[in-house]
Amino acid sequence: MRPFLKWAGGKTKLLPELALRLPREMRTYAEPFCGGGALFFALAEDRKHHRRTFERAILADRNEELVVTYNAIKTSVGDVVDALRPYVYDRDLFYETRKRDPKTLSAVERAARLIFLNRTCFNGLWRVNSKGEFNVPFGRYKNPTICDEETLRAASEALQHATIVHADFSEVTRDLGGGSAVDFVYFDPPYAPVSDTADFTAYAAGGFGFEEQERLAGELASLRDRGAMGMLSNADTPEMRVLYKDFGMHVVNAPRAINSDPTKRGAAAELLVTTWDEPGRIVEPQRSPASSAVHDGA
Ligand SMILES: C[S@@+](CC[C@H](N)C(=O)[O-])C[C@H]1O[C@@H](n2cnc3c(N)ncnc32)[C@H](O)[C@@H]1O
Repeated sequence: MRPFLKWAGGKTKLLPELALRLPREMRTYAEPFCGGGALFFALAEDRKHHRRTFERAILADRNEELVVTYNAIKTSVGDVVDALRPYVYDRDLFYETRKRDPKTLSAVERAARLIFLNRTCFNGLWRVNSKGEFNVPFGRYKNPTICDEETLRAASEALQHATIVHADFSEVTRDLGGGSAVDFVYFDPPYAPVSDTADFTAYAAGGFGFEEQERLAGELASLRDRGAMGMLSNADTPEMRVLYKDFGMHVVNAPRAINSDPTKRGAAAELLVTTWDEPGRIVEPQRSPASSAVHDGA
């Protein structure tokens, strides 16, 4: 069970760091910025092998095409596979498919369209213009796999335990917490830019600016007040360290795969903010297995 899409900010490389912080037993696992859902699929694999449990998963994203695709994979994976089979790696077919208005298609056709575009566009990016139309150009690949049936079927199996909604992050977290059961939320928002040129805000029409980052920090605080567990990833920038100064933080190094500038694809420091670690404490990456540098304050 693994992501069936390449997604900007995908967390596959950071999975060991994230997974070790997941509780063994959860009532709810929620991922309100689902994207490729790397942590959800890793958790579903754990659940299958009885290493971890959750009663229900809630996945959300503001990208409607993505949510339609997840739901089609959940309910009709065989039809999605059939709809994907005729697609081939071809520039003209790419631009024809890109031009088709998804609103005129069935859910299964929308899913096949998104998967085809994701597999064959430049860098697997999802970017839309001001009218909400997908506008990433054709990508160069040797022989891209367009229909990975095994991964799609495994994803469908994982999604049987999930509710997938087209919603803003705040809508799916507001009822969590309370009681003795564990509700766990992993937030992986579009990142705050690390430089003037880096722009990780263009995932969906509307973007995710600093005001949104502040709204999200408020949501994490209110989850903590309600007794739920929250973990959040973001770029390790001075602004983020200040924004989350009342939380515990871990600095982790993650290889960054998607950047339109290949010279900027090296390792990037990320912050993992948690609701359960000591507020104001920042744990730096371990230099040797025996030591871990810790300091206080932002
Ligand atoms: C960094 S990506 C998530 C990557 C994901 N964790 C993975 O492993 O692939 C951020 C996602 O948040 C979604 N998003 C942006 N603003 C949102 C909002 N206000 N509420 C919910 N989702 C949002 C984007 O559409 C995008 O799919």
